[in-house]
Amino acid sequence: MTNEEKLALIKKTKIVPVVVFNNIDEVLPKMEALVNGGLPCAEITFRTECAAEAIKLAVKNFPTAFIGAGTVINRNQCEQAIVAGAQFIVSPGFSPEVADCCAEHNMLYLPGIVTPTEAMAAIAKGLTTLKFFPASNYGGLKTIKAICAAFPYLHIMPTGGINADNICEYLAYDKIIACGGSWMMKGTPAEIEQSVKEAVALVNGK
Ligand code: 3PG
Repeated sequence: MTNEEKLALIKKTKIVPVVVFNNIDEVLPKMEALVNGGLPCAEITFRTECAAEAIKLAVKNFPTAFIGAGTVINRNQCEQAIVAGAQFIVSPGFSPEVADCCAEHNMLYLPGIVTPTEAMAAIAKGLTTLKFFPASNYGGLKTIKAICAAFPYLHIMPTGGINADNICEYLAYDKIIACGGSWMMKGTPAEIEQSVKEAVALVNGK
């Protein structure tokens, strides 16, 4: 898939689940819950030791799912994620070294920003689809609109504090490509599957 095709897929999916695996045994049941719930997509975060292994396992067992790496903060993690089969890379902030690594591998990179200065650093690396994180703490939709007024070619994936109560408001703004979040990942696999189904129905107006 080209990076353009990946962005089109993210736009169609509307939600990018942010997933933390504390243990490799959680990977298959939680991935199954996402897939069965109708959201075959995951940003698997490098916040735990097993992140790269989790990505590898998820990619192997769910080959048609769209699986990326999140909380990637340096080149080493970025390379590990790419080797493990990640299809996109997300950072909480903007990292020039992760941007360079992704460019070398022609890998889709969604860096985090909250200020115009950070947006400019990302734009200077040719990046125009950016994560806005942590969205609710930094003014949410109001700030996103102000930033997009200055940089009209940007597309934004807000993450942080997004939930069933506010996601539709974010998605209604046309510069928002999708929203990231972990609200649907709580509880048992059966509970996750149910929350995912509700989230998918919500964003598709059902
Ligand atoms: C992230 O890293 O993107 C966030 O932890 C997700 O934020 P949320 O848990 O508030 O959805």
